[in-house]
Amino acid sequence: MSKVRIAIIGAGAVSDYHHVPGIRIDDRCELVSVCDPNEALLEQRQKDWGPTKKTTDYHDIANDPDVDAVIIATPNFVHHEQTLACVNAGKHVMCEKPLGLNFSQAAEMYRAARDNNVRHMTAFTYRFAPSMRYVRHLVQSGALGVPRHFRSQRFLDWPETSWGWRQYKDKAGAGDLFDMTIHRIDFAADLMGPIKSICGAVAQFAPRDKFDDGRSCPPSEVDDWSSLIGLFESGATGVWEGSTLMKGHHNNGFGYEWAEVNGSEGSAAYQLTDPNNVIIGKHGGTMEKVPVPDEFLVIEGSPRPPHEGVPSTVFRYDLVWEFVSAIVEGRDCVPGFHHGAIAQCVADSCLASFDKRSWVDINADLG
Ligand SMILES: NC(=O)c1ccc[n+]([C@@H]2O[C@H](COP(=O)([O-])OP(=O)(O)OC[C@H]3O[C@@H](n4cnc5c(N)ncnc54)[C@H](O)[C@@H]3O)[C@@H](O)[C@H]2O)c1
Repeated sequence: MSKVRIAIIGAGAVSDYHHVPGIRIDDRCELVSVCDPNEALLEQRQKDWGPTKKTTDYHDIANDPDVDAVIIATPNFVHHEQTLACVNAGKHVMCEKPLGLNFSQAAEMYRAARDNNVRHMTAFTYRFAPSMRYVRHLVQSGALGVPRHFRSQRFLDWPETSWGWRQYKDKAGAGDLFDMTIHRIDFAADLMGPIKSICGAVAQFAPRDKFDDGRSCPPSEVDDWSSLIGLFESGATGVWEGSTLMKGHHNNGFGYEWAEVNGSEGSAAYQLTDPNNVIIGKHGGTMEKVPVPDEFLVIEGSPRPPHEGVPSTVFRYDLVWEFVSAIVEGRDCVPGFHHGAIAQCVADSCLASFDKRSWVDINADLG
């Protein structure tokens, strides 16, 4: 069988960290082309990633008959136009989160992929953590009883100097909310079912009006802290909190992350920094660390050696395995663009809720 020929649009940090290593370990696919407007980076990637076609114009990727599938890992404001160009040209697309700048863009991306009958995937990385997959199994198998409550916290200790495109609304849409909390909104819905209504709040802690070298830049326009309380359609409750400016939570860049489900019979918690273990407890007992069973350490079929590499990093390589598996098996990717759009609707609703200082019902009509 011929290999799935993948192009990457956006040769920055996340492509280097997750996507290229994921392609490297999957012998069903190959990286054939890279697009980035930064020509110096493009040259560097030819050395780092091996020689491929290269271009500064994403239309060359969309129009290339020798490309089957595209990974879009660019700043948020170009996801929409790049995805539409690629899916309308018949390419399968994995797009980074947040899918767009708002729900309307994300829903349009979903409809375009669906109507062109291509595979579509939102890069919601943390669904692939072994501990998250095992917590999901515990919820779905009824081991925790009736799920009553979800809680997540994600704290990072980022610098208070410029974050580049990430700190401007027209480029990023929002700050911590679209960058970090949106992942937790997605995996909460995956664990607990659809979110029915939420009450949100955001805050900005620092102006970030200087570059590292002291030169001035336009101040940040986005949130450094985001939080929601919510109700799931099931009647369960949820609490989310994230911030990128929590001092002391640097932890070699991994920060602090905790997410838990509390059910009528027991509780289970996931930690990004210890993804091959979960913490579980039953009524009357104490929360204790338990290894994730072997069958949950990698997704089905993944060639990734489960005990090699930095655990908090290597599970991210399974995203490419899922994308390529869906392409070769002719099935939907999980999570798809509809999951990305629904999470975006909830995140948009957090901003709307805070503006109005009131609860908002979630209406993620994908059309
Ligand atoms: N899933 C995850 O866990 C995860 C982690 C980090 C980042 N992300 C997402 O990935 C995306 C990229 O983030 P990053 O940290 O790699 O950013 P980055 O700034 O390191 O890289 C973005 C790259 O896109 C390039 N670019 C800009 N405009 C472009 C265009 N029009 N066409 C092609 N390339 C263009 C830039 O030159 C840069 O090299 C963002 O949407 C971010 O939210 C996801």
